[in-house]
Amino acid sequence: MRMYDVIVKKRDGHELTKEEIEFFVEGYTKGEIPDYQASAFTMAIYFQSMTEKETAILTQAMVDSGEIIDLSGIEGHIVDKHSTGGVGDKVTFIVGPLVASAGIPVAKMSGRGLGHTGGTLDKLEAVPGLEIEMSKEDFIYNVNKHKLAVAGQTGNLAPADKKLYALRDVTGTVNSMPLIAGSIMSKKLASGADSIVLDVKTGSGAFMKTLEDSEALAREMVNIGNNLGRKTVAVISDMNQPLGFEVGNANEIKEAAEILQGKKVEDLRKLSLEIASHMTVLAGAFESYEEAYHTLEQNLENGKAFKAFRTFIEAQHGDVSVIDDLSKLPAAKHVIEVLAEENGYVTAIDAESIGVAAMYLGAGRATKEDRINHGVGITLNKKIGDSVTVGEPLVILHSDNKDAADSVEKVKEAYTISSEKVEAPSLIHKIIK
Ligand code: URA
Repeated sequence: MRMYDVIVKKRDGHELTKEEIEFFVEGYTKGEIPDYQASAFTMAIYFQSMTEKETAILTQAMVDSGEIIDLSGIEGHIVDKHSTGGVGDKVTFIVGPLVASAGIPVAKMSGRGLGHTGGTLDKLEAVPGLEIEMSKEDFIYNVNKHKLAVAGQTGNLAPADKKLYALRDVTGTVNSMPLIAGSIMSKKLASGADSIVLDVKTGSGAFMKTLEDSEALAREMVNIGNNLGRKTVAVISDMNQPLGFEVGNANEIKEAAEILQGKKVEDLRKLSLEIASHMTVLAGAFESYEEAYHTLEQNLENGKAFKAFRTFIEAQHGDVSVIDDLSKLPAAKHVIEVLAEENGYVTAIDAESIGVAAMYLGAGRATKEDRINHGVGITLNKKIGDSVTVGEPLVILHSDNKDAADSVEKVKEAYTISSEKVEAPSLIHKIIK
């Protein structure tokens, strides 16, 4: 077989065979197929797309390119969640303890973030002492004992995707539905959970800007998961503004802990309960979604979910006194208010710009080598639908730099204020089973 012929076949819009797709994935991972042919191939996929069958074969081939984590040492039905990424998304820190509080094991392997705010691991490291590097044995022990552990991705998970994603990133081929679906699902399938709940974001701050595209991506991923033996559900949720009120590392841990302590931040609490409910139903803990939601809501009120969070922090050597007294979390040196310059209503908040403003403060990485500053971040004071008057703070920047002029500018750019009131966007658009 020649890679040239496979490229031309896809370029001309034909369906590829299993052998052809596997030939590409194996050859590219081993370095036998050069980047220039892989670039042409992914560009052909970008324009011609892939059938459901082709996407499933591509995903399985990427799973098989590396290690498949064996979590058979964990007792019970293991559930995982994955978000396609958004600003202020601290749902994992709420959902993990919530699901654990229902006795269902959550074994989460996560990555670090590049750009915008930090990733799950970076945010967790805002808790002094917390360790995310652990042996596979300790990981399994912690999940069995406490029903929740979060660790850095170890081993050689889906190396074909790692190589291909890096290439797509620099060749304008990230935004292809089958390639995104295959990329995300290959890592999820290789990391060993029995069931997966996907939080597919839609809107200005998401990969997929329209509900139609987000739904197509969600369906594609749900089909892949179900066809490859994992019960998979997708929740399509809104990313037309940051989620909750806090953006940053310590900021997001603080907000998540407050929700677990019973605070009612509407959007964040609802989405977390929604995702956790689907996870526990998939794991067989409850007969119905309604029963799951009701019980998990009670676990937020009665302290069980917060206890699970505290136990998890302690088990991973985090300083739990910081969780008991959130004012002890890392904090920035200065607080800067960005004030409204006109009267009216907030009609849009560009989530991506808020993410970039947080990154300028040091909450995220512009390059892989950058160090995260856990204490800096942004607190939103106004969200879509809120009224504002001149001089009121739109956001509060937590900054180590006294003026943070570039972040101030970026935040101002992010807000649209108009004279006509709009309703806040609805949070959960659709559930795909
Ligand atoms: N996240 C991934 O892991 N892969 C993609 O292709 C896009 C987002």
